[in-house]
Order: sequence, then structure tokens, then C-alpha cells
Amino acid sequence: METVVLLVLSLVVLVLFLIYRHGTRTHGTLEKLGIPVIKPYPFVGSYLTPWTKYTAVEDQRNAKRFGAVWGQYDGLVPYVYVASVELAKCVMIKDFEYFQDRPVSMMDYEYARDMLDFLKGEQWKQVRSLFSKTVSSGSKLKAMMTTVKKCTEDGFKRLDAKLEKENELVIQDELFGPIVLDAMSQFSFGIKIPMEDKSNPFLQHVNIFTAGDYETPAWKAAFRLIFKPGSEFEMIVPAFKFMNEVMRKSIKERRISGGSKGDIVDIMVDAIDNKVPTKEFRDLNITEDIIVTQGAELLMASYGTTAAVLSFCTYYLVRYPDIMERVVCEVEDEEELTYESAQRLPLLEAVMYEALRLTPFIPRHIRTCTRDWERDGVRIPAGTNVVISASTLQMDPGEFPEPESFQPDRWLADGGRKLGQYHWMPFGLGPRACLGTRLATLEVKYILASFLKRYRVSTCSKSRLEVKPGLSLLADFYSIWIKVEKR
Ligand code: HEM
Repeated sequence: METVVLLVLSLVVLVLFLIYRHGTRTHGTLEKLGIPVIKPYPFVGSYLTPWTKYTAVEDQRNAKRFGAVWGQYDGLVPYVYVASVELAKCVMIKDFEYFQDRPVSMMDYEYARDMLDFLKGEQWKQVRSLFSKTVSSGSKLKAMMTTVKKCTEDGFKRLDAKLEKENELVIQDELFGPIVLDAMSQFSFGIKIPMEDKSNPFLQHVNIFTAGDYETPAWKAAFRLIFKPGSEFEMIVPAFKFMNEVMRKSIKERRISGGSKGDIVDIMVDAIDNKVPTKEFRDLNITEDIIVTQGAELLMASYGTTAAVLSFCTYYLVRYPDIMERVVCEVEDEEELTYESAQRLPLLEAVMYEALRLTPFIPRHIRTCTRDWERDGVRIPAGTNVVISASTLQMDPGEFPEPESFQPDRWLADGGRKLGQYHWMPFGLGPRACLGTRLATLEVKYILASFLKRYRVSTCSKSRLEVKPGLSLLADFYSIWIKVEKR
């Protein structure tokens, strides 16, 4: 009997030991590199309750504790965190060839892994260059701004109708989101979506992309982290499938109608007909599916981000009425808002810079090291994921005195244009920075200027700008309420 009990006990201990070993199998990797590490727990990694944290605040705290570099485990995945501008410059610019990729494991699902965000090496380079001209060349942007102008006017008509019933609004949902989506669905997919029809299948699928899964109970989030990291993104696969079907239909129609509209559908037609069949593309395995998926990628990358940034800027302006007054004067000095005038507006641009500094929508930038790398005593082996803590660098008091305060004028002072050249990175830095930086900047300035010219905005009792906690690369915010009246 005793022997049986002993045997059962030994078996239980062995099983527990094996489970423990399994749940800590990657731990120790960072420690071996001499990197200070936030102590990991089996399976969950460095945070027992990641869903209660706000990444930017956590990073700032860790940078104070560890300095320029530290390590942490998200579940079982080791990450090296960087909060030094010199190292960030190396990773993102100087030694880019070592850190060209992002870890696809974050979204390793059908379609999602084909997004430009996750393409690797030469495949990424070729696909990025296909789209970069259309998204950032001056003449293309000018044409795009004609669409943005029309979408803004339509957005104002919808807003006027709403203002007859209520004037305290979640400005992102009621105004900015639909304007940006309207413009981007025309630019990326060549289609016009009826923004007021909430049952429209395109709108419903876009909502899947942007909804996230933030209301997940803690037990479910923990279960995911342990057994299926990244599975919160699983639900976007049907949305991609739908978007790709819409894109294929647009490509077919463009072929029949012929002609060129200077949009993404044109690039798709040209790439599928003239690039995909070439030996170069076949050798790199760049397929028609990969090309088509970039339509959904561009929509996803531009819609939530641009609309959120417009809302943050409005929030800061209503919180700082003296700055608002100056911005309104600047905007009113422009008789008509055009592509050219939207490029001026220096104070409005400074407001956007400062809002993005204090509230970066993407507070961390991520890269994978593809070749062993070493500099200044920091060693990063191939295969290691590196996170640049943009939110920490943007709060550096050496670069931005009184970093907590909202001071758009710091961007206008002598040498203001040079401020934060490598510290300020809400669009990332280097060859893998945001593809739509120029378009987004113009869109934000144009839409916001038009809005302020036509409406008076102020705070209401529900106005607040607060991040929802949760371990994620994107920051998720509570709704921003604003009071809006016609001028
Ligand atoms: C204010 C709005 C926007 C913000 C704050 C933003 C921010 C970012 C950031 C931080 C990255 C990652 C950069 C890095 O890792 O270094 C990124 C990547 C990207 N963004 Fe944006 N973005 C915005 C608007 C747009 C727009 C309008 C488009 C397209 C028309 C766009 C397309 C992309 C694409 C395609 C990537 C992936 C680039 C690559 O991996 O090569 N974004 N964006």
C-alpha cells in the first residue's frame, strides 16, 4: 500500500515538474544575455495581470527602474525593451538590416500574415515599394485630398442632422471615423459606402477589424495568454476574407471600365498583371493573394489611427481654450481650405505633434532581430523580438522639458522643427515607419481645420481622455465626448 502511495505521489510530482518545465521553457533566455529581466511566472510571464496594465505607464516605470534596456516575457515569448534613443536609432535606422522584420507570431492567421506589417525581408521590400508611391507622392496626395474634402462635407451634413437632436457626441464615432472610412474605402477599394446604413456589410466587417476584444474577462485573457497567445485576433480572418472578395470585384470592374483613378485599385491591377507573373515575384513567392490583401491592410492601418488622432487633437484643444482660440484664428486666416493651405497651418500641426507625443496611439514599435547583433555591450541574438518604447522616449525631460504638460509652442520655437528628431516617433522611424505618414498628417490637418472653421467645440461633463488598460501594442481609449455647436 505504502509503495502504491509513494508511486502515485512521485508521479504527481513528476507531472507537476513537467508542467512547470513546460511553462518556463523559454525563461532564462534573456537573463543569459545579461539583460535585467522582470521576473517571469510560469506560463503567464512577467506580468500576473497584464490585462490591468497600460503599456505606456508600465514602460515608463520600467525604464526608471532598469534604464535603457530590460527584458520581459509575455507569456513564454521573450522581448527586449529599448528606452534609449541611441539604441532605438540603431534598431530602426542605422542597423536596419538586422531588424527589418516584425514577429508574425503576433497575428499568425490566414490573410493577416500577408499584411505588409508582417511580410518579411525582400518580400516586404518589394510589396512596400509597390504601394509607397501612391500613398505618399505629392500629385497622388493632392488627388486624394479632393476625395477627403468631399467626404468631410458629407460628414458635416450628417453631423448637422445629429446636432438637431443632441450636441454632446462621441466625436470619433459620429464624425471623424465615418469621414476617414469614407475616404479610405474610396482610395483603397474604389467603392463608395453609404455611411448612414449601419447594416451595410462592408461597414459591419470593418467594425470587426476595429472592435478588438477588450471586454474579455480576466480569466479568458489569462487562458489565451497561456494556451493561445494572439488568438484575440482570430476573429479578423472572416473580415479579411470579405474585404479581399470586395477588392477582387473592384479589380475586375476596373479592368472592364479601363482608365486610371490614381488609387490603390490601379496599383493592384498593374501589379497583378505586370509584376506577379514575373520571375522575380514568383521567386519571392509574392502571389496575387498577397497583393490583394494590402487593400484591407491599408484600410485597417489608416482608419482607426487617423480617426483616433483627430479625436485626441480635438480633446486637447477643448481642454486648452487659449490654444484653441489661436488655432481658430489661424484656420480663419485661410480663406479656403485646400491641399496647399492644409500644408501650412503651423500651430495646428504643432497641436497634432504635441497630442501624438503625449498620447501616441501606437506606444510601442516592434522588430525581430534577424542576425546576431551587438553594440555598446548590448547583445541581441537572431530571433529575438525587440520593442522600442516610443511612449517613454516621447516623455524624455531632456528633450521635452516639463514632458507631462501640453505645450504645442515647443514645436514652433527656434529649431522647433529639429525637436524630437529621434525621440518623437508616433509614426515609427526608419524604412519600416508608417507608410501613410504624409497622408495621415494632411488628412488630420485638413479635417480638423474644416471642423473648427464650421463648429464651436467645448468640453462637456463626460469629456475625458483615458486609456483602457490591457497589454497590447495599440492603445485603446474610452470614448471621447465633446460638445459641438454650429458657428
Ligand atoms: C495618424 C494616423 C496614423 C498613425 C498614428 C500611424 C502609425 C503607424 C505606426 C506607429 C506604424 C509602425 C511604424 C514602425 O514600426 O516603425 C505604422 C505602420 C504602418 N502604417 Fe500607419 N499610422 C497612421 C496612418 C496611416 C495611414 C493613413 C496609412 C495608409 C494609407 C498607414 C499605413 C501604414 C502601413 C501600411 C504600415 C506598415 C508599414 C510597414 O510595415 O512597412 N498608416 N503606422
